[in-house]
Amino acid sequence: MPMKKVYVTRHLAPQAMQQLRKHFDLATPRHDQSLSQRGIIRGMRGREGLISMLSDSIDRATITSNTSLRVIANYAVGYNNIDLEAASERKIYVTNTPDILTETSADLAWALIMSVSRRIVEADSLIRSGQWRGWAPTQLLGSDIWGKTLGVIGMGRIGQAVAMRARGFQMRLLYFGRHRISSRMERTLKAEYVPLRKLLNYSDYVSLHVPFTPQTHHLIGPRELEWMKPTAYLINTSRGRVVDERSLVIALRKKQIAGAGLDVFEHEPKISPGLLKLKNTILLPHIASASSETRIRMGEIVFRSLLAVFEGHPPPNWVNPF
Ligand code: GLV
Ligand code: GLV
Repeated sequence: MPMKKVYVTRHLAPQAMQQLRKHFDLATPRHDQSLSQRGIIRGMRGREGLISMLSDSIDRATITSNTSLRVIANYAVGYNNIDLEAASERKIYVTNTPDILTETSADLAWALIMSVSRRIVEADSLIRSGQWRGWAPTQLLGSDIWGKTLGVIGMGRIGQAVAMRARGFQMRLLYFGRHRISSRMERTLKAEYVPLRKLLNYSDYVSLHVPFTPQTHHLIGPRELEWMKPTAYLINTSRGRVVDERSLVIALRKKQIAGAGLDVFEHEPKISPGLLKLKNTILLPHIASASSETRIRMGEIVFRSLLAVFEGHPPPNWVNPF
């Protein structure tokens, strides 16, 4: 049997590429950089499998450009970059990489909570700039984390993993989302389900873990920012468009909230110029799942999804059942 033709839009970890090359006729762009729409369409021409990144827009025109396509394996847990309807109409399987990146992403949300509250980046810059003149009683004062209230918005897999970590910090835990978790899980996490407004009113840290959908677009806007405490921090490791970034800049500038830790942006990779000027904000280039271990496992999952489809089985992590 000839090897199935697969296109991957970026260069994955070497281990992942090796495995894919062993089993498929794998094509990649020569240079590892974000492709234009035309570049993606050209690269995937005649291919039966596509491995896409969250930064690739796999829209209707892209999907319909290729009549051989049978599976799109997105190298991410989020799949808002793919037109599922267009894929389902053509019985093209779409898959994602959940579960394995849950703990890795939760770690990063916590890295943001800790670094924004204790001003880690500012502190490091102080030393590197040569400006540090020694210990001082009021230097770089931040906020405590332990014993405070964490508000988790979107209590799916990642939200729960973030909540679990809060127990070690003896925090009160509030959550809001589409789904309530079981009462047993609520007891395990010591989590209390509350309306959004209450969560924002009471939380010292608000962490976002919802998928991006039309319903979560600008879930956090001017009104919601106003509901937050002036001492509270907003943490976003979900999708940039969940937050109205323009309103966030205004709220941060006015000190309406204490700070923000952001791994995602509304117009990635463009960053609102206002954000760059703010000291009370930490900006990360969308690295929540970026541990070596997890990126290798994501490659394995993508490989298994493609293999299943080519062997005639429904793939694991199939997100558009038709
Ligand atoms: C990262 O943002 C992902 O969706 O995997
Ligand atoms: C998201 O809204 C969730 O309920 O997890």
